[in-house]
Amino acid sequence: MKDTFEREITYLRISLTDLCNLRCAYCMPPEGVKKKPREQILSLEEIAGIAREAVGLGIKKIRLTGGEPLLRPGVLPLCRELRRIPGLRELTLTTNGLLLPGMAGELRDAGVDRVNISLDTLDPEKYRRITRGGCLEEALAGLQAARAADLTPLKLNCVLIGGFNDDEIPALAALTEREPVEVRFIELMPIGDTAGFGPEAYLPCQTVLERLPRLEPVEGAGVAERFRLPGAAGTVGLIRPLSRCFCAQCDRIRLTADGRLKPCLHSREEISVRGLHGPALRRRLEQAILRKPARHGELSASVRSSSARDMNRIGG
Ligand code: 5AD
Ligand code: SF4
Repeated sequence: MKDTFEREITYLRISLTDLCNLRCAYCMPPEGVKKKPREQILSLEEIAGIAREAVGLGIKKIRLTGGEPLLRPGVLPLCRELRRIPGLRELTLTTNGLLLPGMAGELRDAGVDRVNISLDTLDPEKYRRITRGGCLEEALAGLQAARAADLTPLKLNCVLIGGFNDDEIPALAALTEREPVEVRFIELMPIGDTAGFGPEAYLPCQTVLERLPRLEPVEGAGVAERFRLPGAAGTVGLIRPLSRCFCAQCDRIRLTADGRLKPCLHSREEISVRGLHGPALRRRLEQAILRKPARHGELSASVRSSSARDMNRIGG
């Protein structure tokens, strides 16, 4: 269905858990998050029910996120259930990749079309630092598993952080040369309590275009602007929430693990769908779509997101 600004809302992002096996500095507090009591988290049945109503309203694509969605027990049966919803065109997942070696094939069999994997650096020591303890080799094994299971085209999410990985822009972009992957540079968003970076960390994606003058624009709309290195098999995406607001193309709503719809990532507004079924649930979903603002409030290195949650509790 359309929102009040004539945007067709076709994309639902569902966070399955706030928990994660990493602690990325831009997403999670260093101590991690406390596990919520079970009754505060949507059950898999509730999630499937909400997804079914949402598809009835015109949602065509669902992405499972976290925290780390693969930590949620029952993620495979949930994927199978979601896949059975008539009208759903695409089922995807955003993951740090660590659990993919054991799960990629099963995810594919359960109906997942493709995955986005977080990869901010190709340097093991820097990976350990940004994820506060993660092992790059495991993430790369996850990538390999996703390729082998055909969870493709792969997208690699790289949060651009000044003084941390801007020196790796060419190396990260080079991953697109031989393989049809999309490497997406994402501007660091100051959100929640994790917004503790200095001003130098907030680099505009323009930096990528300056470092890689050979990038050529590729046609296509969406929140990511796409480019290609000459002759490359894959593409480079730029996602610029700070320097170029893409709210006019926004096509999504979000569902948090504790059962709240977020009309906008950067707004405090949340609409609970706990305990609702049938027409009441449907009305609440419509309400969330109609509550989508034209655009988010100011967002910059000095003005934090108005969202009351850290990214691990929203789902990226
Ligand atoms: N700024 C930008 N992107 C973020 N992500 C998480 N936190 C932030 C943030 N503060 C994105 C990353 C990660 C995905 C799960 O969410 O791209 O890969
Ligand atoms: Fe976990 Fe992803 Fe957040 Fe990193 S960005 S802590 S991998 S949810």
